Formats: sequence, structure tokens, C-alpha cells
Amino acid sequence: MQLDHIGIAVNRLTDSVQVFSALIGIAPEDIRSREVPAEKVRIAELELEGMAIELMEPMSEDSPISGFLAKRGQGVHHLCFRTEDIEGLFARLRDNGVRLLSDGVRQGSGYRYFFVHPESAAGILTEFKQPNEELI
Ligand code: CO
Repeated sequence: MQLDHIGIAVNRLTDSVQVFSALIGIAPEDIRSREVPAEKVRIAELELEGMAIELMEPMSEDSPISGFLAKRGQGVHHLCFRTEDIEGLFARLRDNGVRLLSDGVRQGSGYRYFFVHPESAAGILTEFKQPNEELI
């Protein structure tokens, strides 16, 4: 299994993109950002070797990220691991009594995923994902 990305909750994407691009040495114009209306977040992705940092800014007051920022401030929001057997992993964790945030594996755009509750992961929200197979 491989670390896919680290999600970081931030107050303002433009500020944090400047900060991280300077730290990591990526030109701000090379940083892609996108909106995920279903989660009410705007995301900027900083690609590193084999993984990414995802900066997440709330799109509205009722965004889950707004709640996180109000309670804990800016910081690490979740870890995401990439797996090649998402269904098998989900079943195994569920059978082991791990607290999961959904009844099944969810479909994202281009990948499937699920989340583990922080209570079952040393206090850190943990995501697992499997990119969809490319159809040739
Ligand atoms: Co994520």
C-alpha cells in the first residue's frame, strides 16, 4: 500500500498555495486546483514524488472543513492510502470492528474510496482509495 495524499485544512487556499509552493519548491502556476461541490471544498493539489499534498479550503460555512477549522484550526485533516483491493480491504476492516464512515465503498470521479473514523486510526481521519482501471 502506498500513501496517496495528505489532506490539509486551510483558511485561504491562495495564501496556503503560496506558503507550500515556497516550502516545497513548486511554482504556484503549476499547482492545479478544483472544486468538489459534493464535499463543499476547493482543493489545490501539490504533486510530489508518488504522492500529493491536498490543501482544502471550505466553499461555504456548512462545509465539513469549516467545522474542522473552527474546532481545530488549520492542520492535517486526513491521510489517504492507495490500495489495489478496496472492496477486500473494506470488508476486512469492517469485520475487524474498525469504525468506518460509510456502509460501503463509495464512487468518486475516477476512483473508489471510503473513510475510517479517527477513533479507529489514532485520531486521524483516514481515507483509502483505488483508482478505476483504465479501459483500453
Ligand atoms: Co482525500
